[in-house]
Formats: sequence, C-alpha cells, structure tokens
Amino acid sequence: MSESAGGNLDHVLTESRLFPPPAEFTDQAVIKSQAQYEALYEAAKNDPEGFWGAEAKEHLHWFEPFTKVLNWNSPNVEWFVGGKTNACYNCVDRHVAAGRGDKAALIWEGEPGDTRTLTFADLQKEVSKFAAGLQSIGVQQGDVVSIYMPMTPELVIAMLGCARIGAVHSVVFAGFSAEAIADRNNDAKAKVVLTANGLYRRGKVLPLKETVDEALAKSPTIEKCVVLQRIEDQETPMVEGRDIWWHDLVADQPEDFPAVPLDSEASLFILYTSGSTGKPKGIRHTTAGYNLWAKRTFEWVFDHRDDDVYWCTADCGWITGHSYLVYGPLAAGATCMMYEGAPNHPAEDRFWDLIEKYKVTILYTAPTAIRAFIKWGDEHVDKHDLSSLRLLGSVGEGINPEAWMWYHEKIGGKRCPIVDTWWQTETGGIMMSPLPGVTATKPGSCTRPLPGVVPVVVDEAGTELDVDQGGMLCIAQPWPGMLRGIWGDEERYVEQYWSKFPDKYLTGDNARRDPDGYYWIMGRIDDVINVSGHRLSTIEVESALVSHPAVAEAAVVGRPDEIKGQGIAAFVTLKSGEPTDELRKELRLHVRKEIGALAQPDEIRFAAAVPKTRSGKIMRRLLRDIAAGKETAGDTSTLEDYAVIAKLRENDES
Ligand code: WT7
Repeated sequence: MSESAGGNLDHVLTESRLFPPPAEFTDQAVIKSQAQYEALYEAAKNDPEGFWGAEAKEHLHWFEPFTKVLNWNSPNVEWFVGGKTNACYNCVDRHVAAGRGDKAALIWEGEPGDTRTLTFADLQKEVSKFAAGLQSIGVQQGDVVSIYMPMTPELVIAMLGCARIGAVHSVVFAGFSAEAIADRNNDAKAKVVLTANGLYRRGKVLPLKETVDEALAKSPTIEKCVVLQRIEDQETPMVEGRDIWWHDLVADQPEDFPAVPLDSEASLFILYTSGSTGKPKGIRHTTAGYNLWAKRTFEWVFDHRDDDVYWCTADCGWITGHSYLVYGPLAAGATCMMYEGAPNHPAEDRFWDLIEKYKVTILYTAPTAIRAFIKWGDEHVDKHDLSSLRLLGSVGEGINPEAWMWYHEKIGGKRCPIVDTWWQTETGGIMMSPLPGVTATKPGSCTRPLPGVVPVVVDEAGTELDVDQGGMLCIAQPWPGMLRGIWGDEERYVEQYWSKFPDKYLTGDNARRDPDGYYWIMGRIDDVINVSGHRLSTIEVESALVSHPAVAEAAVVGRPDEIKGQGIAAFVTLKSGEPTDELRKELRLHVRKEIGALAQPDEIRFAAAVPKTRSGKIMRRLLRDIAAGKETAGDTSTLEDYAVIAKLRENDES
C-alpha cells in the first residue's frame, strides 16, 4: 500500500502549502475579492430571508410569487412559501424565452464516438414531447418515476421531463443490480420505470433492459416501462401492455407542451443513498429551494461565464450528476459536456481527448479518477492540448495532497485554481468550497463555507469546539437546498439528522477548522464508507453477505485503497461449506447480485468468529486496523475472544 492512498489523514494534518488564485483569474472572476465574499456571507447569515428572497426573485422564474421566504420549525423547513415555479422551466424554457435558445445546452459524446449537440431550444422540444408522453401513459403530479438509464441526452430529458409535469424522479445508477432496483422501486412505490436496451461500457454492451425485467418481476407498483433504443439491432424482449419504446412514446407528442406551475415545496426528486443502517434511504429534495441552491452554488463555485464549456464527469445516478450536470448548470444557462462511457476506452486518454476536442474550460471530477489517471501514466495526458481549461473541481471525498498537486500541475498547467467541494446528497449542492477568484487554497481542505452555510464543529454534548479541535460537523442554519426528508420515513429523517442536536443538521462527517477558518473533513462518524466517491453502508454489504446460505455472520469495514480511497474488507464466518477461493469468488458475485459491482468486497477473510464487545457490537476499529495491515491499536480489553484476532491475522488472503 503506497503512502499516497486516499484518506491518509497524516498528510492532510501537516499540509501547509497555500495557493492563491492567479491574478489573471481573479481579474475576470464573478466574485473577485475576499471583501465581496464576506459581504455575501454575512448578508446570508444575518438576514437569510432578505438574502434568499432577493436571490430567488432574481434567479428563478415564478408563475406565482412566494409570500414568505422561510418557515423554519426545526427540523421542518419550507422555502419560498406560496410560490409557484418549475425546475424544468428554469433550466430550459427560461433561456429560450430570453432569446438564448440557440446556445448549446448539452454536448454529448457516446462511448463509441457518436455525438449529439442539443441547444436549449432543442432541449425544450424534447422535454415537451417526453413530458407529454409520460402524461399520456398515466403519469401524474406526485407519481414516482424510476430512471435506470445510460448517460445519454435522454437521461437528462427524462429527469427534466418528470420535473416538467411534477412527477418525482428517482434515478438509480445503472451499475446497480436488479435487487437494488426492485428495493428502490418498492420503497418509492414507483409507477413507471425508464430504461434503455443497453449501454456501452468499455466497448461492451450491458443489457440494461434484462436487469430491469428481473427487477420488475419483484416491483408490483410499476405499471409501465419505457425503453430507449440506445443500441440498434439488439434483440430486446418487450412485454405486451407494459413496455413501450421511447421513440413510440414521443412520436406524436407536441413540441410545446407547457411546464406545470408547481409549489415551491413540491417534491422534485428522490435519490437513494446509504446511511448507517442496511437499508438505503430516499433523500427527498423539493423544487424551488433545491433549484436555486444548485444554480447559485454552480455560478459561485465554477465562476460561470457565458462562453464556458463545462464538464462534470459524474453519472446522473449520483447527486453530483443531478446538481452539477442538470439542475445547476442548466438553470445557469451553461453549456454542458456529457460523456457516456469509461475514461479508459478506447484508451486511457479519453478524457483529455474530449477536453481538447470540445475545448472544455471547466472540469469537475473525483479524486478516485485523478488517482487512476496518475497510475495510468502522464504520457496519456502529454499527448493532448489542455490549454482550454481554466478551472478544475473535485468532489466525492477529500482529495489527498499528492493527487491535488498532480491535478494542479499536470491537468491545470499550474494556472487553473482547484475547487475542492464538500457536500452531500442531503445538502443538495456544494456547502464548502474555495471561490476560485478569491480563496487561497490548501491541498486537502475544502476551505470555507458558501454564503448561506453556517458550519459548526461540536463535541458529543453539542458544545462548539475551538479551532483545530476535531469534532462532529453540523450545520446550524437552514439553507434552501437542504433535504426535506427521507421518502416515506419521517421518523428516520428526524432520528438520523436531528436527534443528536435538535437545532442543528448532523452531517455525519468529522471535521476541524484551522486558524484561518478553513475546514478539513476528517471522515465519517458512522458506519458509512466511501468507495470511489460513492457512499456505502458497511451494514448494507454485511446484509448482502449474510443472505448467502453459507454465511453465518459477516463484518465489513473500509480499508485504505490507493485508487478508490477506501476498499471493502469483509470478515466472514461460515455456517457450512469450506473457506475456499471458490467460495470467496461466489460471495463476491453474490454481493454484486444483491447490490451491484461497486459493493463487491475487495477482500474476504474467513474467520472462526467475528470479534465483538461484551455488549455484542462488532469491533470495527479493530477490524479496520487488521484490514489495513496495522498492528492492533488501542484498548482491546473488551474483546470477547482474543483468539479470534489471532485467527483473522493468520487467514490473510493477500
Ligand atoms: C460524503 C457525501 C458530494 C457529492 C458526492 C458524494 C464525503 C464528499 C467531499 C470533500 C471530503 C467529502 C463526505 C460526505 N465527501 N465530498 N470534498 N471532502 N469529503 O455525495 O454520496 O452523499 O457522500 O462524501 O464524507 O459526507 P454522497
């Protein structure tokens, strides 16, 4: 294991380099000075209603004006009460109405190299037809539509089409298994599912429709399935009366189907993410506040200018794709790049090739991708002219200083500021980030809060801690983009985020604030791990393992991984069968089937028993140390059985 592994806190704790924004950048930036930032920050903090009321009036279209900016009755919040708006209108029609219909909204490239550009006017026609099509198959306001699609323009059209009629989308990342889709369909009581007959990944076709068919056998609430023909000449079984081709659905629909005025607090989407228990939770976001938050944070953090070509490499299956490929940049009228496939197909220079070809000016990607690029070698980068780039972003996990430096030097040519953006599915958009024209950056720190974000670092008693003391990161004031609940589970919402400290939002992260007021995220307080920037609950993986007939018990922990940040280590005790490599393989496949490839354990160790405290809790700290190959640190006197540890050490597969 190399020292440069992501998540290595030692580096972050000693990091003191400071990178002020280049003067040329600051000269042209939207926010140019510390004073300007501070004025915004203070205004939003001291007078949230005045500040956000003015922002909402200026930055969203209102069919009917709101009558009250904020109702805050912790943990219940309403923003822009009484107003009617529409997120699809804000992202599309608003620009067409303002005469910007000919500007490119989406520049798309498929993995095989096929390309499409959609202007805002094109997008308006497409979302109109699709929204009307959805309505024609019975989708109504408030109905949940599950989306399991490849990264094609139709995925964006699908999301916006739902928003246009007030249907609530629930995008399920196309790497999840049939089981995972069915769980989400059932939890959300989804009525319709949208999919494609395949997607391209590293030159192969993945048959998405087959996976959806398997899921639909267990999804009783689904009435219709709309299938995009992404792959031509592909045998695609269609179920009579249930399945309908996308092209047939939109064939005779109007190009001017209007956006429906919706309450500010109408649900816009749910997005499932992992919590500290086994069951993923459907994070619920609403229309006006979320859309405003996505737009304004996009404009501030990415210093958006009209001629930018902006590329967010995230998949729409994650919140980053929702907020920074769709709702933020499109509401801002930005031109967005979108790419379907793998970064190393047909070769390891695909990203750099795309940046050169489309003259991308802003790149927003994840540390796990950056670490993979470093591993693949500089020669892939050196082949390309990346001089169009002016700003770089990072998201998903802390960026380790080594990756930061490579990104800065090799991709940014030392001239592009890096914005390390900290946020969560729940926060709707970026919470802490440098402002590229203002903030001197420190590799590994997400620096300072955006206007409207009031972070506090507290101890167990809820007392605010001093500078440089690590503690639980909370947010002390409501912000427009915050989650409104967990779909169908009000209790869990309160319990998860508002029970420890009733007046503060509990992020689940540890952090410290340094003497300059910069924040350093120090990992989770719960059993959530971060694998390639994706959140997974260790308990979720444990449940998947235990559902295999041979497994008696399983304990799962994160371990450092050079590329993924964290990998997954599983300790398994068997009911039956032999602890063989064959069984290891089978268990990995089993987890893949239960959740998806991203949850497959990197390592499985068989053990006689899982070490537990006397009260029966799995000793995760100990297992983490063992998985990381470290000597056992700390007090183990509560260990049920010391022999168990010795046994685990012996059975080290690596
Ligand atoms: C968790 C949220 C942010 C959207 C994508 C992931 C970790 C995220 C950073 C960062 C340090 C980060 C946190 C957070 N995280 N960004 N810049 N620095 N940690 O969203 O799946 O909801 O995960 O990712 O632990 O709580 P998510």
